[in-house]
Amino acid sequence: MGDWFKRAVVYQVYPKSFMDANGDGIGDLRGVTEKLDYIHELGANVIWLNPIYKNSGVDGGYDISDYRAIAPEFGTMEDFDELLRQAHARGIRIIMDLVVNHTSTEHAWFKESRANKDTPKRDFYVWRPPFEGGVPNGERSIFSGSAWEKDEATGEYYLHMFAKEQADLNWHNEQVRQGVYDMMRWWLDKGIDGFRMDVIDMIAKPEEALASDGGPHRNVSTGPKEHLYLREMNREVLSRYDTMTVGETSSATVESAADYANLDGSELSMIFQFQHVSVDEAPKYKWCTDPLHLPKLKCVFDKWETGLYGKAWNSLYWNNHDQPRIVSRFGCDSDEASRVRSAKMLGACLHMMQGTPYIYQGEELGMTNYPMKSIDESLDVESINAYHELVEEKHEMTPEQMMACIRRKGRDNARTPMQWTAEKNAGFTHSKPWMPVNPNHTVINAQAQVGDLDSVFSFYQKLIRIRQEYDVVIDGRFELLMPEDEQVFAYIRDDGKQRMLVICNFSDRDAVLTADAQMEGQILIGNYHEEREKQKLRPTETRIVILKE
Ligand code: GLC
Ligand code: CA
Repeated sequence: MGDWFKRAVVYQVYPKSFMDANGDGIGDLRGVTEKLDYIHELGANVIWLNPIYKNSGVDGGYDISDYRAIAPEFGTMEDFDELLRQAHARGIRIIMDLVVNHTSTEHAWFKESRANKDTPKRDFYVWRPPFEGGVPNGERSIFSGSAWEKDEATGEYYLHMFAKEQADLNWHNEQVRQGVYDMMRWWLDKGIDGFRMDVIDMIAKPEEALASDGGPHRNVSTGPKEHLYLREMNREVLSRYDTMTVGETSSATVESAADYANLDGSELSMIFQFQHVSVDEAPKYKWCTDPLHLPKLKCVFDKWETGLYGKAWNSLYWNNHDQPRIVSRFGCDSDEASRVRSAKMLGACLHMMQGTPYIYQGEELGMTNYPMKSIDESLDVESINAYHELVEEKHEMTPEQMMACIRRKGRDNARTPMQWTAEKNAGFTHSKPWMPVNPNHTVINAQAQVGDLDSVFSFYQKLIRIRQEYDVVIDGRFELLMPEDEQVFAYIRDDGKQRMLVICNFSDRDAVLTADAQMEGQILIGNYHEEREKQKLRPTETRIVILKE
């Protein structure tokens, strides 16, 4: 494992919504290849590709039926090889989604496992007998309802932490692990550069959570063998290639991250932690949100930045295919000027921290949430199931309340087609897009922004250049200023040679920088043209300053 991941800037491509090259309404691999120059121009040097494998169409490609085949809607293996070649020719590496907590129930392993109790494949999944004639225990699926599904063939239940078409693999079975490692080597031998590992903190489920004992819903994440399995994977696969890896670990803490992302390279390069994207979650469900309380957000970043310094490596992200659009969430998208300004401010805030930044397609344009009117428009299994459960079964929310939640938090927000132009279908496709484009593509699109020096795109370009030019962004210590302030997020990066000050006014009112955040020095970038008094910040203003000695 090299350490190029420390200088990586990752662009996440959700292929289904990125670019449709063959005009069937669905984004595809040739579409990604066509747009490599765009990604290159932005300055990203790694692409994380969401799943492109053969799948059963239930959860956006996360229900894989064949790990070694490309889904026909995305193209062919030749298309993939060409994409990899073209990316590498531009100095862009590609990391793939590794989804090995579960497979589709259409995967050959599961079909064999389901068919009879005596095949060695039976133990590849988590089968349990009924408890008192019903489900083995109270384990709940993340996509609503019981995590157990009865299979009529044998009368036993199998575990699915997500949709019932996504059966959980049994990682305690050695052959499962070896099967996964073989598949990983197969892709790495092809020349890919690493993996983003889907819900990797869930693979080593504690045995007691799986007992058919009628017990309650228990935590299946970070079981006792979690790090053992990851170190084994590292020894047998990752350490033999020059890879970058990032684990999706919603349960991770600063303490567990010190193992997962240890700089000794014994497990993964880094992880995605979830604490900063949970700060606005109301206690009851992910669906309810509280307004952002800035000191809480700052406290989370401070903990990760200082906690991992010199020990492990951070990832930095606001957005991905599971999260609402950041400018609609922590910024302000109600008028055009505020949208542009707050998208830049959020970019500056994140990109100057220590870690590897991830940009989700369209984030660099300040793309916003989608104004969904009714649940019939949703294509996301998570939102649809939650709507049925909370509105129709349990009557815990009215349709209007739930739709308001889905508009704020639903995953469809991130999955509307990429906005390339102001034309029909945003230049994404020539036919009917698989998912509606956001009507605001007439204003927010790549064509309008590339080359416009005041655009969000140009601002992201500059942030990436600053990262490449100033070592303090890679190596400096993080020091939070004004932790209690409810408007301003300000911090210093210091590598002993240079001190960089980053200031972000998260509010739409004027704000004041207190004495400990003096900003004499050279302004590298900001989101207002006119100079103003040094210690005053205008609404959603940001500045990055190299401080005077
Ligand atoms: C991860 C993916 C998400 C998917 C889930 C199940 O959280 O990011 O999109 O639904 O895992 O694979
Ligand atoms: Ca297509």
